[in-house]
Amino acid sequence: MPCRRATNFRRCSPGSIIILVLLAIPFMYYGRILFPDVPDTYGTQLSETGEGNGRNRFQNADNRSRSLSQGESQVHLDRKHIDQENNRGKDRVRNIPLILIVSMMRSGTTFTGEVFRSYPDSLYLFEPMQYLSGNVGHNNITYMNGTQRFYDRTSLHDLHALAIRNLLLCRFHDVPAGVFKSSHFLYHNHLKNFYNCVLGVRGNDTLLGKKCIPMLKQKCERATSFAIKLITVRMEAIAQVMKLLPEMYVIHLVRDPRPALFSQMKVGQVAESNLANASELHCSDLLIDLAVTKQDSCFRQNFHRQRYEDLVRDPLGQFEGLFEFVNLKFHPNVQGRIKQIAMRKGVVRKCLYCSDKGDAMAASLVWRKSAHFSHVTEIQKHCDKVMNELGYISANSSADLKNMNFSLTKF
Ligand SMILES: *[C@@H]1O[C@H](CO)[C@@H](O)[C@H](O)[C@H]1NC(C)=O
Ligand SMILES: *[C@@H]1O[C@H](CO)[C@@H](O)[C@H](O)[C@H]1NC(C)=O
Ligand SMILES: *[C@@H]1O[C@H](CO)[C@@H](O)[C@H](O)[C@H]1NC(C)=O
Ligand SMILES: *[C@@H]1O[C@H](CO)[C@@H](O)[C@H](O)[C@H]1NC(C)=O
Ligand SMILES: *[C@@H]1O[C@H](CO)[C@@H](O)[C@H](O)[C@H]1NC(C)=O
Ligand SMILES: *[C@@H]1O[C@H](CO)[C@@H](O)[C@H](O)[C@H]1NC(C)=O
Ligand SMILES: *[C@@H]1O[C@H](CO)[C@@H](O)[C@H](O)[C@H]1NC(C)=O
Repeated sequence: MPCRRATNFRRCSPGSIIILVLLAIPFMYYGRILFPDVPDTYGTQLSETGEGNGRNRFQNADNRSRSLSQGESQVHLDRKHIDQENNRGKDRVRNIPLILIVSMMRSGTTFTGEVFRSYPDSLYLFEPMQYLSGNVGHNNITYMNGTQRFYDRTSLHDLHALAIRNLLLCRFHDVPAGVFKSSHFLYHNHLKNFYNCVLGVRGNDTLLGKKCIPMLKQKCERATSFAIKLITVRMEAIAQVMKLLPEMYVIHLVRDPRPALFSQMKVGQVAESNLANASELHCSDLLIDLAVTKQDSCFRQNFHRQRYEDLVRDPLGQFEGLFEFVNLKFHPNVQGRIKQIAMRKGVVRKCLYCSDKGDAMAASLVWRKSAHFSHVTEIQKHCDKVMNELGYISANSSADLKNMNFSLTKF
């Protein structure tokens, strides 16, 4: 089924399912890992949070292999409901760039999102899917009209897709209420009034829908562009959104798994003793994402893969390319912001959660100095396929690792 004319939630190409199932088999060990609720309060740490909080490290560890191999009949989401929603989707196509920045934890999404946010009058949402990622399969999902539903974990991709689509269309009343109460959602100065409103209604969803949502809706309807960054949504869900909104742009931001995992260790999302498992999980997710984007015909247009390493090596040039890709002017504000947060030569900032990297290129290399070679070997063991595919070079000795004259990225 061609992506542009698609009218329902089926996959673009059946071939992708087969490939995914094959890919999924080695990763059958996924277990059930429970998530705490996403906190409702704007914690001090979260105001600086870059990539989501540590407790959500394993949101992807659902029974992916199981849900894939057993196919659609196992998805316990109400099909009729989805089709209805989907048909309503045809009434309006928004005339501004709709942009998804899709990635994994600690891969530079906060930084990239910040650049898109600097476009004048843009709307930018930071991790709005954390609520669904953390609660589907574990807790009731509540809607603004008071409806509560318990969804099977296998519905997660469908729910992600539907919610993202409704967000992009400013249809906030159709998005689960919890989405707007998650502190992740509110990590933006340009939405402060909205967030204060959400805090003010103290969990009363009726009031949330009546008082606060209209504020966001107004902002959304006037926005010049709308970008959403996502690290807990996998490409299988993104493919569904692309089918619903083929004019949307998807930027797949990828990063060398070694620094991504070291960074996860540094912020306490991965324990040293668990590095092997975490590497395997991280790289199997990434491998599946890559496979989906290659197999599914939805990704033949409006899709761009961006390596983080290229972005920091030449921030202005690479972002100019990204802005051209999403059909936005490379506005002077944007250029200024890039210079400010990525191009201050020699300024290496030591902060765990920040979009301001100072000298982004230098910051991106720091891991090589501090990493234990044995850890590097461990990650490389589990990530060799992904690294090969994305052009990252294995370090075969500690000397390779520490010698900065030697690039570990193929350019
Ligand atoms: C994953 O699948 C196994 C075996 O089918 C099952 O026992 C387990 O409860 C499932 N976990 C989740 C989170 O659905
Ligand atoms: C979940 O929602 C159902 C109704 O859809 C309700 O019967 C059940 O009590 C709810 N569970 C919780 C824990 O709120
Ligand atoms: C409440 O909203 C949900 C999600 O949009 C929708 O599926 C459901 O039908 C609505 N329920 C009522 C009673 O309007
Ligand atoms: C929410 O607020 C409305 C309007 O003030 C009120 O009528 C309703 O009882 C409140 N709901 C709850 C659950 O407190
Ligand atoms: C890593 O995974 C293996 C196999 O699934 C499991 O037995 C082991 O307990 C895990 N290790 C840790 C530290 O979670
Ligand atoms: C390490 O070995 C692999 C496989 O032989 C090779 O592709 C890679 O270039 C080597 N790395 C370095 C830094 O020489
Ligand atoms: C890296 O290159 C510089 C300049 O070319 C050289 O002086 C230095 O010795 C090299 N370092 C290593 C470890 O090879």
